[in-house]
Amino acid sequence: MSDPNTSQPGFPTTRLRRLRYNPAVRRLASRTRLDPAELILPLFVRPGTNLAREIPSMPGQFQFSPDRLADEISQAVELGLGGVILFGIPEHKDATGSDALSRSGIIPEAIRVAKHASRDFLVITDLCFCEYTDHGQCGVPSEVTGRIDVDNDATLELLAQQAVVHAQAGADMIAPSGMIDGMVGAIRRGLDEAGFTHLPILSYSAKYASHFYGPFRDAAESAPQFGDRRGYQMNPAAAAEEALREVELDLAEGADMIMVKPALAYLDVIRLVHDHWPGVPLAAYNVSGEYAMLKAAAANGWLNEKETAIESLTAIKRAGASIILTYWAKDVAAWLE
Ligand code: PBG
Repeated sequence: MSDPNTSQPGFPTTRLRRLRYNPAVRRLASRTRLDPAELILPLFVRPGTNLAREIPSMPGQFQFSPDRLADEISQAVELGLGGVILFGIPEHKDATGSDALSRSGIIPEAIRVAKHASRDFLVITDLCFCEYTDHGQCGVPSEVTGRIDVDNDATLELLAQQAVVHAQAGADMIAPSGMIDGMVGAIRRGLDEAGFTHLPILSYSAKYASHFYGPFRDAAESAPQFGDRRGYQMNPAAAAEEALREVELDLAEGADMIMVKPALAYLDVIRLVHDHWPGVPLAAYNVSGEYAMLKAAAANGWLNEKETAIESLTAIKRAGASIILTYWAKDVAAWLE
C-alpha cells in the first residue's frame, strides 16, 4: 500500500496540498472570514463647519467637523459596519482638560449628530483625557519619583464624570483607553449612579506603550508635551501573561468587552486572552501606525493595499479577536461586497 499522505512519483500531491488545490476547496477550508458587522471605524471630530481635513500621516482618514459626520455615519450604516468609535479634538485644550466634562463639548455634539443620522447604529466613545489636556497626559499630571506621570486616583473621578457626559449625550458604549488603575470600576459606578446601568463598557484592558500610536497623536493632536505614557501603559517587553492580570482586574470591575492594542505586533497576547476568556467579546485595535505603514508602502507600489490589509485583519481575527477597530473598516466592507 502506498502512503496516502506523501507525494507519489508522477502524482506530486500531498495531503495538505489537496486542501488548497483549487479556489472552491480553499473557500470551504477557510475558517476565518471578515464580517463588516464586526468592524469598528474610528472617527476624529473637531469643531467647525464643513471641515474634512486629511491627516497627513494617515492618508484617507480625516478630522471632520460635526456637520460632516452625518454623511460618514450614513456610509458606515450602508456598508453594514458594526459601529464607530469617536475621538474628539476640542476647541481649547487646557491643563485640566475641561472640555472633556462639558455637555456642549465636541464629543457630546458629535454623538448627537451621529445618533440623529441613525438611531440604531452603534456609537462608542473613547474615554481619556489626553485629547483634552494641553500637556497631553491622560489625566491629572503628577510627579512620581521625579518623572511626570498621572495621578491615578484623582483621574478616576474625572473619568466617571466624562462617562456620564457621554452617556447623557446618547453614547451606546463607553471605551476607557487611559490604562488608569480602577478606571472600569469608577466608570461603572458613575454610570450606574446616573441611571445608565444598561450601558456597556469596552475596556482597553491590555494597551501597550506603543510607538505604533505615532500617527494617531497627529490625528488627535495629543502627543504628550512632557514625559511619556510608559508609567501606565503596558511594557511591550513584559511577560505576555501580564495582559491576563490586566484583563482579570477589568472583568472584576465590570468590563463587558475587552481589548488588546495594538494588534499586529501583539497577536500572541490576543491569542492568550482569547483562550483564557473565550466567553468575553474580545476586540483588537489595528492602530494608526499599522495603517500608516501599509499606506506608505502601497503608495510606493511596494505592497498591494487591499490584499495586505485583508491578510492582516484576517490574522488578527484568526488570533482570536472577534471585533476589530480599523481605519480600513469602510474599505474592507466595500472590498468584500
Ligand atoms: C488614547 C488613545 C490612543 C489611541 C487610541 N486611544 C493614543 C495613545 O494612547 O497615545 C491610539 C490609536 C491609534 O494609534 O490608532 N485616547
